[in-house]
Amino acid sequence: MEVFGIMGAMPDEVEQLCAQLDGVEIIPFAGVEYHMGYLGDKQVVVCCAGMGKANAAATTQVLIGKFGAQRIIFSGIAGNMSSKIGIGDVVVGKTVVYHDAQDDMIAKSAPFTAQFPGDETLVQAALDACKSLGVTALAGKIATGDQFVGDSATKAAIAAKVNPDCVEMEGAAVAQIAAKNQVPCVILRAMSDNADEEGHERLVVKDFSISEYVTTATQIVCSMLKSL
Ligand code: ADE
Repeated sequence: MEVFGIMGAMPDEVEQLCAQLDGVEIIPFAGVEYHMGYLGDKQVVVCCAGMGKANAAATTQVLIGKFGAQRIIFSGIAGNMSSKIGIGDVVVGKTVVYHDAQDDMIAKSAPFTAQFPGDETLVQAALDACKSLGVTALAGKIATGDQFVGDSATKAAIAAKVNPDCVEMEGAAVAQIAAKNQVPCVILRAMSDNADEEGHERLVVKDFSISEYVTTATQIVCSMLKSL
């Protein structure tokens, strides 16, 4: 039976999914708890990788190498950088890139690129799931780096460099390692802030609850899985 790897970066991003698992077994490995079980008729392994590129890459490799994940869905929040969407809307990663890496050097080893396309079937399934739930979604470019973007100058520099629709801290690392293993993946991001001072104040300083964004993301993942 096909195994889906489902990842988030923060405990909040996966706890609603974990709560819906049937027949769950929790396996701790290298600092991460892997929740094996079923969502509907699909076999899944759900985990919280931790934040940033290293955590994302390591956990993706464990999902594939140890737990046999054959497709990967990453679900989380991001800072919006597009005028086409707003807070609460979703970006589905048609392309995922780094905003803080030297792409030509990254591309010297497998998968020999630093522009990671989302798997077409998974991207379409995510867009269809958003549509059926009445969630505004954009298939767009997601940029990843090891920092929370919470000031206008950094936001402008990232826009000038890679012109993404949103910014986050894990997607490209997940996509790079998935591609290295030839495992299809997709990155889904609900917009929690506008990658500016206000977002930093709310999410980082005040540790704002992200549960409403996570509820949306959880519904999308469940709906997607049903269709796959
Ligand atoms: N995740 C959610 N908002 C973010 C931001 N502004 N920068 C990086 N990652 C984020």
